[in-house]
Amino acid sequence: MRNMENPFKFGTIVEEDFFTDRVEEVAYIVQCLHSANHLVLISPRRFGKSSVVVKALKSVKRKSVTLNLQKVTSLADFSAYLLRDFFKSHPLERAKQFLTHFRIVPTISSNPVTGAMEVSFQPGTDGVALIEDVLTLFERAHTERDRLIVVLDEFQEIRDISPRLDRRLRSIMQEQKHINYILLGSQESMMADIFENKKSPFYHFGELMRLGKLPRKDFHDYLSIRLAAVFPNGYAEMADRILDYTSCHPYYSQQLAANVWQVGVLQPETKDVVQAAIDHIVKSHSLDYERLWMGLNRTNRWILQRLATGNALQTGEHKTSTVYSALKRLQKDGYVIYSDHYELEDPFYRQWIVTAP
Ligand SMILES: Nc1ncnc2c1ncn2[C@@H]1O[C@H](COP(=O)(O)OP(=O)(O)OP(=O)(O)O)[C@@H](O)[C@H]1O
Ligand SMILES: [Mg+2]
Repeated sequence: MRNMENPFKFGTIVEEDFFTDRVEEVAYIVQCLHSANHLVLISPRRFGKSSVVVKALKSVKRKSVTLNLQKVTSLADFSAYLLRDFFKSHPLERAKQFLTHFRIVPTISSNPVTGAMEVSFQPGTDGVALIEDVLTLFERAHTERDRLIVVLDEFQEIRDISPRLDRRLRSIMQEQKHINYILLGSQESMMADIFENKKSPFYHFGELMRLGKLPRKDFHDYLSIRLAAVFPNGYAEMADRILDYTSCHPYYSQQLAANVWQVGVLQPETKDVVQAAIDHIVKSHSLDYERLWMGLNRTNRWILQRLATGNALQTGEHKTSTVYSALKRLQKDGYVIYSDHYELEDPFYRQWIVTAP
């Protein structure tokens, strides 16, 4: 038993056995990719955006380029990363002819050890021309019948890379016919502002899709089957307790399940395994939690405490407008999420807030 691999995974993109449900969502993304439209996918952090897109990409079996804009610090970076990913699926020999239009020619070499392509622009070169040329290359290398898929993750970062980049990008993208764009983002309010504000260049750019939590029944089955190997009695009840505690949040449910499994394997004599796993997680994060707490002002602390204990926010203690704008801010910073009501994003932080001395 000790050598068995933990059947739960949290933190990175999940595939195959670690991925559950999202059947309708995958179907929706796939149909969008079979049309001439673009897709905008929004959810709070760690709900499974990247995973669901990877799943859809695998099932359409078309060429794609993926870039997380959080990694990008300049336009030169942006362009080089995109090109490098492009050359993973397009042989350089054939793409060469499309490089002739580049105003600033990139240096492309292949890493002799990994075989991967390295792409860079001369230091000091920057500007929208770089990215324009790359996107033009993508367009030319594809056709209407064989569209390229370009996935830009954490798209809200676009506003920090370079001023007015959103305007320029939009004007290039709207001329293109050989690319499906998938734009993903997690800072909810900012993403909504980019795609739903009439003044924004990306207003109504594509089909807007919001990803929710995982459906309880499927998630319950997923957890039960895997827990049953270690807890032949009581696995179903355990799955219920896990999902109650995390309210079906994809990441935190997997995290708690992984810890429950671990406790079950390493300390089978433990009486209340779920509680032991929760305590372990809270304890291992308590330093971070304390640091976060110290960084919050009094109103924010008050709001988090009220949410953590399930108490109403309209007490007359603070002005409604103050509470509302603080909530929006906390949501933007990822402390609070809203699905059908406001709640603390991290159930373990909630526990820490309730029990910390
Ligand atoms: N379909 C799923 N089935 C099971 N677990 C999932 C699923 N989707 C997400 N998860 C859990 O959530 C975690 C985060 O998933 P993923 O990285 O895809 O989310 P994300 O929304 O892209 O996150 P981020 O905001 O960090 O970019 C996964 O590691 C996994 O534990
Ligand atoms: Mg992601």
